[in-house]
Amino acid sequence: VTRIGILTSGGDAPGMNACIRAVVRASIYNGLKVTGIMRGYAGLLAGEFIPLDVGSVGDIIHRGGTILRTARSMEFMEKANQDKAATILGQAGIEGLIVVGGDGSFRGAMTFIERGIPVICIPGTIDRDIPGTEYTIGFDTAVNTVLDAINKIRDTATSHDRTNVIEVMGRSSGHIALQAGLAGGAESILVPEVPFDLDKVCLRLLRGHDRGKLHSIILVAEGVGSAVKIGENIEARTGLETRVTILGHIQRGGSPTALDRLWASRMGAQAVALLLQKKGAVMLAVEKGELVEKDLVEALQSKNELDMGLYQLSGVLSI
Ligand code: F6P
Repeated sequence: VTRIGILTSGGDAPGMNACIRAVVRASIYNGLKVTGIMRGYAGLLAGEFIPLDVGSVGDIIHRGGTILRTARSMEFMEKANQDKAATILGQAGIEGLIVVGGDGSFRGAMTFIERGIPVICIPGTIDRDIPGTEYTIGFDTAVNTVLDAINKIRDTATSHDRTNVIEVMGRSSGHIALQAGLAGGAESILVPEVPFDLDKVCLRLLRGHDRGKLHSIILVAEGVGSAVKIGENIEARTGLETRVTILGHIQRGGSPTALDRLWASRMGAQAVALLLQKKGAVMLAVEKGELVEKDLVEALQSKNELDMGLYQLSGVLSI
């Protein structure tokens, strides 16, 4: 291998830049050349390539977003365009590809593997919803961003004796809600993986209120449904004054935490090492706290599950 390509795809996530930097620096250290592919598969189809040298990734380790930009490409779903994309890679002399993104992006990467181009996939999404890994780049930063918001909302909730419902991202998974809710001491955490009973949520609120609690925080994962409706329902059923905050894209930005920078750096360097060992069709993952490589097909067939131990703990601690 003499030249590799790297792209970021799907929703951006803090730490992606640290990963790009690691890929570029580890490649150059090992005598490889690196091509940056802009805007994910959309930019690949449009031939939007930039050379990445040592200096091009300076001063980005602490920045959120992705310098390569990103996209969710519909046209790449078509077989003719997948053929075209593989040809474009060949013409650019790219002999191995590193894809940083979510499982949708990894399924896209399969098209190159089927055409003989090695690909290493690095999990990058704030949602932590990729099968086969207990960590994704950006998750830790997003959880800490939500935690910061909870702390701030808690201040005003206490002053006004209110219930605050906070809606967080996560697509159809509840990892962000669960971890930020547990760390932030939320009264209830509603996640799509576990059915909930709003009456019980309300009972718990009233019990806390009767005990003299001055505020209550309810975390709602976006996959559960509209937090606005849930908030209206809670107010109607309990009579407690309720406010709703939808955190939205604030959760996608910001300087990555040390944890995200460290994993992003390790994964980026390891992806280069695997391409040098002529490996392809691999997804990097964290399992039991260790960085491991997984067969991409097998990883995509496995399930992403919520940590039920943590979920139960949140119930115990918020009686
Ligand atoms: O996958 C990351 C994510 O932020 C999800 O949590 C959310 O559902 C989705 O992307 C939002 O997508 P967009 O930025 O395209 O609105």
